[in-house]
Amino acid sequence: MSKILVTGGAGFIGSHTIVELLNEGHEVVVVDNLCNSSLESLSRVEKITGKKVTFYKADIRDKKALEDVLAKHHCNACIHFAGLKAVGESVEKPWEYYENNISGTLILLDVLRNNGCKNIIFSSSATVYGNPAQIPITEECPKGECTNPYGWTKSMLEQVMMDIQHADPEWNIVLLRYFNPIGAHPSGMIGEDPNGIPNNLMPYITQVAIGKRAELGVFGNDYDTPDGTGVRDFIHVVDLARGHVSALQAIERKCGLAVYNLGTGHGYSVLDVVKAFIRVNGVDIPYSIKPRRAGDIATCYSDPSKAERELGWKARYGLDEMCRDSWNWQKNNPNGFAK
Ligand code: NAD
Ligand code: UD1
Repeated sequence: MSKILVTGGAGFIGSHTIVELLNEGHEVVVVDNLCNSSLESLSRVEKITGKKVTFYKADIRDKKALEDVLAKHHCNACIHFAGLKAVGESVEKPWEYYENNISGTLILLDVLRNNGCKNIIFSSSATVYGNPAQIPITEECPKGECTNPYGWTKSMLEQVMMDIQHADPEWNIVLLRYFNPIGAHPSGMIGEDPNGIPNNLMPYITQVAIGKRAELGVFGNDYDTPDGTGVRDFIHVVDLARGHVSALQAIERKCGLAVYNLGTGHGYSVLDVVKAFIRVNGVDIPYSIKPRRAGDIATCYSDPSKAERELGWKARYGLDEMCRDSWNWQKNNPNGFAK
């Protein structure tokens, strides 16, 4: 058992990861400025697990606040989720994205090393592969050109952490490249709660299902894919969360620098997801074909075998469970965490 500092722990992936950490007997200390989340998610985590979460409302760019937290809590490792993640917004506000994600992470890394905690797991993204050189994507696939500042923050921060680990091998750094996380905890008590009009596919579908949006726009049906719509590697957020617990074991084994794809290895098209959602949940999802969305690629799915080989981790849930749990969350919480 160890004590884990979780930045951004009140958010979508953080809250699900904390459930898995607590269930495995770890203790967690959360730092989140709540700019894209609500404290209600953590009280739901406490209800699901029957365990306590220590929470600090603080910004990772606030060095003094981080120092105070680490002075109070000796943490063995940090799982670093905190960051801004809206792709379109990052194009409008690049400075804010570079400042929040990059400055914030640099400050966090500094405070961690000053406190002798040189173990970190970082939320990276498949977006660092750009338009991937090969499908399925292995970790050896070269990084590519990102199409937006959000993607660049992930790519640059990976480089920062690789350089830091190279200069000081006492660091253990795991870069987790997430594919497309969807779904929700099977309890229906926590899930994704986007602000305003959702940018991503699944939250848009669930808002159509609940009647908040009239129809789904499918962005392009003329890609070079089996049905012409974009193909992605959707992964259940609970599987993704379990991947972090496995990555902690790699840190305990002193992994140095390690990079893993977290995906299922299966590519599903936008229409596959829509059809599965309708079939599994018995609700209708009206949709119409719209022009392609700028920056989108045709196909992106992982080869996740390195994580299985080295971490013993493998996704367990399929697309049907992802659709079932996304709908279960939305149906039980039509307004997300807002009461
Ligand atoms: P989220 O927005 O739900 O969670 C991020 C959390 O970080 C939020 O609770 C937010 O309040 C907090 N935060 C942001 N800036 C902060 C700061 N300066 N100080 C303190 N807290 C701050 O997002 P998520 O979907 O849970 O994503 C978690 C991480 O995974 C992010 O780094 C994201 O970029 C990355 N990621 C997400 C996806 C995805 O599809 N959701 C895919 C790849 C990578
Ligand atoms: C996007 C980001 C990625 C980020 C991830 C999670 C880009 C290029 N990539 O991935 O960096 O890590 O979100 O935040 O923006 N779609 C529709 N209609 C919709 C919404 C989406 O047809 O209303 C389609 C898209 O065109 C795409 C697929 O659904 O083909 C998945 O889209 P989305 O959920 O936004 O994820 P990505 O674009 O793969």
